Amino acid sequence: MGTEYEVEVGVVAHGGICVARHEGRVIFVRHALPGERVRARVTEGMPGDRFLRADAIEVLTPSPDRVEPPCRYAGPGRCGGCDWQHATLAAQRKLKAAVLAEQLRRLAHLDLDPVVEAVPGAEDGSGWRTRVRFAVDRAGRLGLRKSRSHEVVTITECFIAHPAVNGSGVLEAIWSETAEVAVTAAGSGERAVLIRPSGPPAHGRAARPRMDPLLDTDVELMPDVPAGVSATERVVERVGGRVYAVPAGGFWQVHPAAASTLTEAVAEALVPRPGEALLDLYAGSGLFAGVLAATVAPGGTVVAVEGDAAAVAAARDNLDGMPGVTVIADRVDHALAVGVGPADLVVLDPPRTGAGRVVVEAIAALRPRRVVYVACDPAALARDIAIFAETGYALSGLRAFDLFPHTHHLEAVATLEPAVPSGT
Ligand SMILES: C[S@@+](CC[C@H](N)C(=O)[O-])C[C@H]1O[C@@H](n2cnc3c(N)ncnc32)[C@H](O)[C@@H]1O
Repeated sequence: MGTEYEVEVGVVAHGGICVARHEGRVIFVRHALPGERVRARVTEGMPGDRFLRADAIEVLTPSPDRVEPPCRYAGPGRCGGCDWQHATLAAQRKLKAAVLAEQLRRLAHLDLDPVVEAVPGAEDGSGWRTRVRFAVDRAGRLGLRKSRSHEVVTITECFIAHPAVNGSGVLEAIWSETAEVAVTAAGSGERAVLIRPSGPPAHGRAARPRMDPLLDTDVELMPDVPAGVSATERVVERVGGRVYAVPAGGFWQVHPAAASTLTEAVAEALVPRPGEALLDLYAGSGLFAGVLAATVAPGGTVVAVEGDAAAVAAARDNLDGMPGVTVIADRVDHALAVGVGPADLVVLDPPRTGAGRVVVEAIAALRPRRVVYVACDPAALARDIAIFAETGYALSGLRAFDLFPHTHHLEAVATLEPAVPSGT
């Protein structure tokens, strides 16, 4: 730790870092860009280690893609919330595309040249984060953590947070006996503040980190912001003419353009036909099922599978009365093992860890004519695409979207279809 090396920065790697080499060692450098010469200070690892992590603390030869970070909290040793504030947005998308291509090449043995598409939003990539979980420092001030650290960098605004999050008043308040404060800014304009008290988790809470209400809060917030709401209370989102009530502490696509961008991309990739049976796995509050039900009508069915109780309850309400639509409350692997009926089409949107072998094999066993996989982690996606290939499903389409500007994250929509046997 602390040793400095002058290095040539090589290719980008997964996680907002670039790869450099120094005397036989690999150094993963943050705050650098491919092609730059930088002075890098080691942040993790000992001089004898083969792999080190470092921050570029001085740029000796800058990349033409380099810009001054627009956020005053971005930079070596500072807020860890963003990874690419020092690159133009166009360059960020190229870096993300290169990471996606590399994961597909390495894990799925596919040689592709994906493009990461921009989505509607502020030109400088600010103000898109509608759900932010703030950490609390010892003095009760809110902030975000440093990269790979528990240390909190206190902030008075977050460049990528939605204006309704920055304007909620939580960043000006002092939070005693509080471990975390999360702000949800719904598309409807509603806001909710979820407060997790410090101290040991109550029995039964530890296995599933959730926001819990702090009932005796006396913090002054802006008058329209309910503080200390329960994670299961709902806020309203609107997509494609439909209304969704979503648990304030539950999952919803974060970027304001994400839900519409992804539902359109999924529908376009699936090409549903009236009368078909569609399976929506990891369905959340019913986003895809709600939009896709009309595309298989009349006569089609949609089965949505979701494991979180609050999301299931919301999905049931959101999809209530839609003909042919059923919500199953279960783990996806278990539901598939027990049986979910026939499936002509499958959409799956698993968490960051991906679907995994058991789920992929169970989907393939249903022999759907098309599978659309919505993925927030390119490595998990590439691993699962390789498993699909073993089961006879080949990648037939891939789109990727820049739904998390200034961070290293991207969202991909991959289409898989039964591979055509050679000679047919
Ligand atoms: C990335 S979110 C997608 C939600 C929804 N498709 C959307 O766009 O709003 C993943 C969802 O999967 C659920 N989930 C995670 N692991 C699960 C599992 N093993 N079985 C069932 N649901 C799971 C989570 O509760 C969450 O709602």
